[in-house]
Amino acid sequence: MQIKDKEFELFLSEQEIQSTIQRLAQQINQEYRGKEVIFVGVMNGAFMFVADLLRNIDFECEVSFVKLASYEGVQTSGTVHELIGLVNDLYEKHVIILEDIVDTGLTLDKVFSMIDADAPSSLEVACLLYKPTAFKGKHAPKFVGIEIPDHFVVGYGLDYMEYGRNTKDIYKLK
Ligand code: XMP
Ligand code: MG
Repeated sequence: MQIKDKEFELFLSEQEIQSTIQRLAQQINQEYRGKEVIFVGVMNGAFMFVADLLRNIDFECEVSFVKLASYEGVQTSGTVHELIGLVNDLYEKHVIILEDIVDTGLTLDKVFSMIDADAPSSLEVACLLYKPTAFKGKHAPKFVGIEIPDHFVVGYGLDYMEYGRNTKDIYKLK
C-alpha cells in the first residue's frame, strides 16, 4: 500500500486487531465492573481503538477524549504541552487512558501527570500497540494489546503525515 511517498506492507490483520481488542475488553470488564470508570482516549490516533474497545465494554461508564496541544516556544525553553478537551470531573473516578500506540512513552507521561493532578481513584493505561524496546517512560501501560518491534506502523487510526488512518488493518513501513 502506498501512502504519499512511502510503501507499506500488511502487518496486523483486521481479525488480529479485533480479537486482541475483545481480549482487552474482557480483562477490563472483569477488573472494573461495578466501579465508577471513565475512559479517556488520546486524539487523534486512538479514535478507532476507542470505538471498537467500548463496543465490547459491558458496564456503565463514561467516555471522553483529550488532545495534547504542543506549541513551539519562542525561546529555547522548548515545547509547552497542554491537555485540551477534558471537561469531565475525574476526582475519585477510575480513569483508563486509551492510546493507539505507546512508543517512547513520553507523550503518555505528559497525559498521565496532567490527569493525575485531578486526583482520580486510580489511573491506568490501555493501548492497542506497545513498542517495549523503544519505551523509556515512567508509566508502563497495564493493558497491552500487541507488543511490536520498533517498526513505523500506520492504519487503524495511526497516520503517516496525517494520512492512512482510515484502514481496518495495520501496515508497516516496507
Ligand atoms: P511516544 O510514546 O513516543 O509516541 O511519546 C508519540 C506519539 O507518536 C505516535 N507514534 C506513531 N504513530 N506510527 C504512527 O503512526 C508509529 O509507529 C508510531 N509510534 C508513535 C503516537 O500517536 C504517539 O501518541
Ligand atoms: Mg497519537
